[in-house]
Amino acid sequence: MKDVEVRIGDLAAPNGSEQTKSGRGPNGTLGAGSESQGSFKTIIAEQDEVSTQTEQPFIVTIDGPAASGKSSVSREIARRLGWNWVSTGAFYRGLAYVAYKAEVDLKDEEAVVTLARSANWFIRMTAEETCVFLNGQNVTSEVGKEEIGTLASKISSLPKVRLALLEAQRQCAKSVTGLVAEGRDCGTVVFPQAQVKVFLTARAEDRAARRALEEGRDLSKTIDEQKRRDAQDATRKTAPMQASADSNTIDTTQLSFVEVVEKVEDLVRAKLASISN
Ligand code: DC
Repeated sequence: MKDVEVRIGDLAAPNGSEQTKSGRGPNGTLGAGSESQGSFKTIIAEQDEVSTQTEQPFIVTIDGPAASGKSSVSREIARRLGWNWVSTGAFYRGLAYVAYKAEVDLKDEEAVVTLARSANWFIRMTAEETCVFLNGQNVTSEVGKEEIGTLASKISSLPKVRLALLEAQRQCAKSVTGLVAEGRDCGTVVFPQAQVKVFLTARAEDRAARRALEEGRDLSKTIDEQKRRDAQDATRKTAPMQASADSNTIDTTQLSFVEVVEKVEDLVRAKLASISN
């Protein structure tokens, strides 16, 4: 795939308007008095109306809890099909890292949104990684740490933060033939029009063991932290992690990496075949 850069601050409000009826202001910020939960729903509905008017690439979404293998599986599917790949978690991790470095209170929604739109960070999608750059430095490996995942989960419950990142995530599907996107709400909110939706899950202890091994962390601490993060991601009011009604749930606990990839690839190839017939 060709590397693609997304700068959140460069994205204009839908249709270039200064303020839509839903209260969205310049650069997609919410106008004063717009209550986040309702507005979030109205705005994404408006954006979905707009997006159905244009030709769409083939989109595969892979959602699921922490360390369920979403990144490695989705990257491999994209490689096999010659499509683009994006980890939407990198947007939340990147912003959480930027806020942490700037010593901004992660509960201060307006301050975090302002940071999201600052010019000093951007995302670069490559075939191997969804990279985060801060002040010209590639900080992807620091951003990938479990501690930053915990901070990312915190800011991801803020509706205005989700809105600020939503448009940027949707940009990843512009001008591409196919996109494999992984995260928590890719099939439900970011790309509800996706042709194939997968929800990957696995036993919490196995997922934590995978992450603890990768990062050389204490297992029981990692189990506790991931359980807390998954509960937070699944119960937040805005765009919670969930399998949509039209998604295929795959429990990877008893499966090898190759078996999971083959199951997902079969789903995609079957859909491609049904479209071309
Ligand atoms: O997939 P990950 O571990 O990189 O994600 C880090 C956090 O970002 C996750 O705990 C919740 C948030 N996230 C989200 O809310 N929505 C997404 N589509 C992706 C990630």
